[in-house]
Amino acid sequence: MTDKPSKSHGRLSIGASLKPRELMTERPELAGAWKARVLTLYPEMFPGILGQSLTGKALQDGLWALEAVNIRDHATGKHRNVDDTPAGGGAGMVLRADVLGKAIDATAAPYPRDIWPVIYLSPRGKPLTQAMAKRFSTCRGMTLLCGRFEGVDQRVLDARHIEEVSIGDFVLTGGELAAQVLIDATVRLIPRVLGNAESAEDESFSNGLLEHPQYTRPTVWEGLQIPEVLLSGHHGNIAAWRQSQSEAVTKERRPDLWRAYKAPAGGSELSDAHNTAAKGEDKDD
Ligand code: ADE
Repeated sequence: MTDKPSKSHGRLSIGASLKPRELMTERPELAGAWKARVLTLYPEMFPGILGQSLTGKALQDGLWALEAVNIRDHATGKHRNVDDTPAGGGAGMVLRADVLGKAIDATAAPYPRDIWPVIYLSPRGKPLTQAMAKRFSTCRGMTLLCGRFEGVDQRVLDARHIEEVSIGDFVLTGGELAAQVLIDATVRLIPRVLGNAESAEDESFSNGLLEHPQYTRPTVWEGLQIPEVLLSGHHGNIAAWRQSQSEAVTKERRPDLWRAYKAPAGGSELSDAHNTAAKGEDKDD
């Protein structure tokens, strides 16, 4: 499905700045940059941690852009209510489909969902994986819907073809932290965001295994030595040692990844975890 072109109502755009929250205007030069559009009741929570370190520098440099949209700006009525009690009873409040539908439509990007996914952060979602982050990083941008309270009305998720993504089997107070996690994992895979020194090639999940341990100077610390092989200068031996360490730690900590790594390519259902971590996603859409 294709979204309508966006309007500028009720939005804060964050581009290049030394103080990210001070630069809240649309910047035409960022038109082609990957963009995260976040729908939230707390736009002041952004850029949050994304305004610091590598992601913050990349934001300043215009390698990606961030826009925080206040959901409440799309509510109507005297009180601008965004939520109501759950149908059928129960505790808490549910975000209303009419308000969310308006917010999503008013900020829709002119791309189909495979080019510009719309994600709802929720513990009910598919687990976030490196493969998912890779897919998102090749899109033009994405919209992230952050819930609070007991969640959002299911009808808006169905009617607007919204994917649900979870960052783990635990419950956060709202989707904003989860959105920042997802954006961080995605933005660092955009070309030129990571320098050569921080290459994403060797890290955990890039080949289906957890990463080997790392060491640096001093060579002896509290009587503990750096493994001899790492000081040998023998690249072949170092690579072999790292591979065996990666395999050992994966086998011990993540039997799911280990089974997938050992399974023949394209083989049984056991290869799902590996495919998810290193190759492609579990696509059902
Ligand atoms: N919102 C609340 N808990 C969450 C989780 N575990 N993942 C994503 N979004 C959430």
